[in-house]
Formats: sequence, C-alpha cells, structure tokens
Amino acid sequence: MIEIKKLTKQADNKLILRGVDLSIKKGETVAILGPNGAGKSTLLKVLATLIKPTSGQVLVNGLELRKNQIKIKNLLGYLPHSSLLYEHYSPFENLVFFGNIYGVKDVEQKARKLIKGVDLSFFLNEPVKNFSRGMIQRVAIARAIIHDPEILLLDEPHTGLDQGAISILNNVILAMKKKGTTTLMVTHDFKQAAEICDRVLIVKNGRIVDDFAIENCNLGFVTEKYEFQVEGVS
Ligand SMILES: Nc1ncnc2c1ncn2[C@@H]1O[C@H](COP(=O)(O)OP(=O)(O)O)[C@@H](O)[C@H]1O
Ligand SMILES: [Mg+2]
Repeated sequence: MIEIKKLTKQADNKLILRGVDLSIKKGETVAILGPNGAGKSTLLKVLATLIKPTSGQVLVNGLELRKNQIKIKNLLGYLPHSSLLYEHYSPFENLVFFGNIYGVKDVEQKARKLIKGVDLSFFLNEPVKNFSRGMIQRVAIARAIIHDPEILLLDEPHTGLDQGAISILNNVILAMKKKGTTTLMVTHDFKQAAEICDRVLIVKNGRIVDDFAIENCNLGFVTEKYEFQVEGVS
C-alpha cells in the first residue's frame, strides 16, 4: 500500500529526513512516535503530497507519489495540527463544502451522519468559531474522512482532547480500520498508540530507529522500547 525507499527531505540546508525506508500494508494502523523535531510531521506532509521529497521513492498503491498527486490526494484523509475548517461555517457547511470538493455522493446525508458519529448533532448549524478545541478536533476528523479515504494520516490527533473526545476519536479510527483503512498516526500519547495501533515506528533525527508490532495493547512494551531508543534508558 505504501512503499518508501531511501526518502530524504532537505530544507534550509538542514536534512530533516535522512533516508527513510518503510513498507506499510493495507489495513495496518501504525503509530509514529519520536521526540519533537524528529521529522514525524515532515514524513506525513510528504505522504500527503504537501511537500516534495528531496530524493528517494514513494509509492502509494503502486503509484509514484510525484507523478500522481491528484489521484493520491483522493485516497488520503489528512488531519494536520490546524483543523483546515472554515471558522465562520458550521460543521454541516464545512463537511458539505469539503465533501463537494471530493465529489462525495449524497453529501448532505453523509455530513449529518458523520457529525452524529462525533456526537455534535446538537451543534450541526453553529459556526465553528465558537467551538472548544475538542469540538473543533471532532469536526476536523469528520472532515478528514468525508470521502472515505483508504489512507488516514493523523498528526497528533489526541493532543488537547478530554476523555470523551479521545474515545470518540478512537472509535472513529477503529471503525475506519474495520473498513480496511490504513492509518498512520503521529502521537505523543503512548496509551492511545498502544490501544488502537498494531505497529509502532520510532523516529529520531530523521530516521526510523525502531519498528515493531504491538500485541494485546501492551503499553509497557511501547514505553520500554521508546525509553531505550530515545532516552537511552536500558
Ligand atoms: N519548511 C521547513 N524549513 C526548515 N526547517 C524545517 C521545515 N519544516 C520542518 N523543519 C525542521 O525539521 C525538523 C523536523 O520537523 P517536524 O517534521 O515538524 O518534526 P516533528 O513533527 O517530529 O516534531 C525540525 O527541526 C523543524 O524545525
Ligand atoms: Mg510534528
């Protein structure tokens, strides 16, 4: 599904990604952990076709990333730090607007269903500008999946959310997983990573320094691996 070979990204004379090799199968839910500045968001932005690689190869569904940006964009749902929502629009208007960009059928019905799924039906027609961070994030996740993407790219989706919003978000991710969606999720929240992901990558200084499977939501294992790779604790 995603094949990355010898990927590098340089900006302002700084090598941000230093040779990333990665292969992700359809339906995997992968957590990307690592310290600030490691290159995690940069890796997601390359996959989201928002920035160009400096060298190396990226294939998505067998398509070379640089040559198939529009096709690949249609396969992707991307949730960055910023919500990408229009703050003067309501959740409903935002979802219909983005759904129309992707040519979603029965878009109004779909928008209502997704807003219900993130428990915001009561605020369907309220402008997003009055919403709390957790409410905005819930609309943002609905926005990211309006076109049933095959691949979800989530950049720190749990940051700043309360327990209710976290479980809503996790349920959305798990429901997408059931449908066969492939998810890459950058996070600092090891607990969420252990609960919903089946694989963990640890990124440090622009490289993947560890790559392992998680079984039985084993949080202790994730923490141990992270401390060993990043904090030098053995
Ligand atoms: N457009 C850019 N120009 C120059 N440096 C950048 C650019 N984008 C990111 N960086 C630098 O690359 C490093 C990795 O950034 P990022 O991928 O956002 O890290 P992470 O998401 O792991 O915290 C940081 O040191 C950051 O300052
Ligand atoms: Mg980041």
